[in-house]
Amino acid sequence: MPGRYFLTTPIYYVNDVPHIGHAYTTVTADALARWHRLLGDDVFFLTGTDEHGLKIARAAEANGITPQEQADRTSARFQETWDLLDIEPDRFIRTTDPDHTVAVQAFLQKIHDNGHLYKSQYAGWYCVPCEAYYEDDDLLPNPDGGNGLDPVHLRPVEWFEEENWFFKLSEFTQPLLDWYEAQPDAVAPGGKRNEALGIIKHGLKDISITRTSLDWGVPVPWDPGHVFYVWYDALINYATAIGYGTDPERFAAWWPHVHHLLAKDIIRFHTVYWPAMLMAAGEEPPAHLNVHGYLLVGGEKMSKTSLNQIFPADLVADFGVDGFRYHFLRNAPFGPDGDVSYEGIVAGYNADLANNFGNLLSRVATVVAKKCDGVGPAPRPDSPLAAVAADAYREAAAAWDAVQPSVALEATWRLIREANAMLEEAEPWKAEPGPEVDGVLGDAIEVLRLVCILASPALTRAAGEAWRRIGLTGSPADQRLPEAASWGGYPGGLPVEKGDPLFPRFKPPA
Ligand code: ME8
Ligand code: MG
Repeated sequence: MPGRYFLTTPIYYVNDVPHIGHAYTTVTADALARWHRLLGDDVFFLTGTDEHGLKIARAAEANGITPQEQADRTSARFQETWDLLDIEPDRFIRTTDPDHTVAVQAFLQKIHDNGHLYKSQYAGWYCVPCEAYYEDDDLLPNPDGGNGLDPVHLRPVEWFEEENWFFKLSEFTQPLLDWYEAQPDAVAPGGKRNEALGIIKHGLKDISITRTSLDWGVPVPWDPGHVFYVWYDALINYATAIGYGTDPERFAAWWPHVHHLLAKDIIRFHTVYWPAMLMAAGEEPPAHLNVHGYLLVGGEKMSKTSLNQIFPADLVADFGVDGFRYHFLRNAPFGPDGDVSYEGIVAGYNADLANNFGNLLSRVATVVAKKCDGVGPAPRPDSPLAAVAADAYREAAAAWDAVQPSVALEATWRLIREANAMLEEAEPWKAEPGPEVDGVLGDAIEVLRLVCILASPALTRAAGEAWRRIGLTGSPADQRLPEAASWGGYPGGLPVEKGDPLFPRFKPPA
């Protein structure tokens, strides 16, 4: 049954340009959005940029520009990168958008009115790259002997003291534990759920949610001179985008049925602070939080601070948009950490795209030209591949549903391999034209039709091109599942076009 599917990525900081870590989450979200559109769901896919706070103010200062200029420039770089990667969000939100200011003020005013805030003096350690306070025992020893290191960026923290508004997070310990118990599947995978529970059980302290030491933020409506802490501004983007504070009916229609995608670096904010904020504002916590690991380069988290970043455009230059998307969706399973290597991308591209998919299409087109005058025959209703196709669909659908694109694509590629194996067994290129050859080729074209649909969330370009070459009109993305996945959709009698290799074999420069 088609339904609503609300899907988000983190909104990224605009202190620096996007790297493949940001692209990983966002390509995954885009592919999921495309899959759910195939199912006929009413999809709302949200991404954007996180533009306030000290981290951005300092980046702007270092670049000799205003925070607004820093935000405008870098936000544009994120949007360009998503354009390059065929990532098509329904909204690209910026925390400097006017409706977001309205939503943040309304949301936090509600928490204030509900009695969950108080004013006090703050003194503690702060990590600007994390935009987070730390307790002494959170910090790692500093080998240089200075202030302790934050556990995420491994950078010395700074001492901050100011008058702040505090959120009574400590009062939400039990409500959060109750919610986790009632919603055992809200945070996936299970290991990440345990991590969240660990943070809550360790004991929650009240948290400062305003700043007076900077003005690059959303003003606190009831206390001039204060702006909201950037995380309490940023998290609310998920509510802004569906109408919080501006369109209550729309908000009520979409919330809380959201899928938040994020990496484990920001688990505390999403699995503890955000559900607690929602409860304090009288709203339900988010229905689904899907947490993935880090892309590692040379064994270390790829990050701005580690200087080991890889940029999407460099990989697209070598492997194309499809090659880029396919690699991260297929070879970086959603959940654990995964090493990124150039050799790994080359190997996967050549095996799965150039060989398996590309070869199936070019073989079929060549033999149909020779033996069938270039007209594609219809598949056999009783083909041995029909059951393989049904299994592949079932597995792929379950895997997309479980936010496991790598498993979905593995199932899809199994169908390709089976079709290639059938061709190698039957060798229609050696046989006389006739019903046997027609049947085998018809089956192989039907597999191509199915694969074009099932792979279209990953291969935004090649799936449409292969679809066109086997003579179909429209686009695979316009098909409706599950109907379009039933065996026998290819009618036969359509012109099949030979063309250049869909995925030219990649030879690394010598
Ligand atoms: O944390 N591997 O923004 P951010 C995998 N503005 N994913 C990675 C990654 C890596 N090496 N590096 C980054 C913020 N990511 C806040 C979020 S949300 C209300 C506010 C991805 O620019 C991953 O999705 O530091 C991670 O959670 C996110 O980028 C952090 O982006
Ligand atoms: Mg970060």
